[in-house]
Amino acid sequence: MKAVGIIGTGMYVPDRILTNGDLEKMVDTNDEWIVTRTGIRERRIAAEDQATSDLAYEAAVRALGSAKLKPEDVDLIIVATITPDMFFPSTACILQDKLGARKAAAFDLSAACSGFIYALATAVGMLKSGMYRNALVVGAECLSRITDYTDRNTCILFGDGAGAVVLGEVPEGRGFRSFELGADGSGGPLLKVAGGGSRLPASAETVESRAHYIQMAGNEVFRFAVRIMGSVAEEALRKAGIDKKDVDLLVPHQANIRIIQAALSRLELPEEKCMINLDRYGNASAASIPIALAEAVEQGRIREGDCLVLVGFGGGLTWGASVLIW
Ligand code: ACO
Repeated sequence: MKAVGIIGTGMYVPDRILTNGDLEKMVDTNDEWIVTRTGIRERRIAAEDQATSDLAYEAAVRALGSAKLKPEDVDLIIVATITPDMFFPSTACILQDKLGARKAAAFDLSAACSGFIYALATAVGMLKSGMYRNALVVGAECLSRITDYTDRNTCILFGDGAGAVVLGEVPEGRGFRSFELGADGSGGPLLKVAGGGSRLPASAETVESRAHYIQMAGNEVFRFAVRIMGSVAEEALRKAGIDKKDVDLLVPHQANIRIIQAALSRLELPEEKCMINLDRYGNASAASIPIALAEAVEQGRIREGDCLVLVGFGGGLTWGASVLIW
């Protein structure tokens, strides 16, 4: 099977910044609490006329530019998101049209904050099988549209943005080495948007009961995340046959600095070997790992031959990790 890797990256975040100071005026919270409990200082919020596909488009154009690939040459588009523009058509189809990627098959993938890793695994499998030559994989979210800005337990965490990668054939010895994915549906109620689906269709009552917003049992999700982040990364490394001391950069889901620190301690990695940007963007769910990856590339933190570990967890519950050689 041919080697498949990342041949282009791109990211986009909206201009509007929502700081901890702004949140102090909206709910009973304060900057000190948010920074010490989460590490987040500010997050981006999409403009009123921006939807998820608009953020995805900006990130995708940048990723295609860095891969030197024209939209009409793209074979496959997968968008990982829990905040699609609408139920259907998929955000991937809307993006395909905006890009003019006429040849591409396109679909969305829903695995919450693990969505980008799930989407990568899906695309890499399709490329390795020979079904397609290249793929555009995007994580994009407008979480501000499903965030309850009267709930201090959740509204401090989330931000909007998009990250994209282009996948294609790379020289032997480079590219993706392993994936480890998992799910535990019994933990679904811990993190959900209950309203608007077939179980609880949108109605005046669902709006009244705020059922269209994210509801989260923060503490339980926190404990799950601390347990799973390190162990799924270790399992992906074991599958790849790579020792944790040989990891050059960890690119984790940017949910909470304390969750990232727990993963670093389990992997015995210093903070310098970790990409952290949650202080500026908060938790952008499926977009957070590709945004962090694209920023790491922009900042020159990744060199040819480096060993990267991408790792995330999220609603579902879901989790995933991947090991790749850059
Ligand atoms: N400001 C001030 N106080 C607050 C705030 C706030 N914004 N939020 C909660 N508190 C209070 C609580 O009410 C509680 O007070 P009490 O003891 O009087 O009841 C106290 O602070 C402690 O609350 P905890 O929930 O125990 O705080 P914790 O240290 O667990 O931090 C947090 C909360 C940050 C939400 C943490 O649990 C967390 O990060 N959980 C994981 C969240 C996550 O990563 N979710 C992924 C979702 S992404 C997706 O899939 C869409």
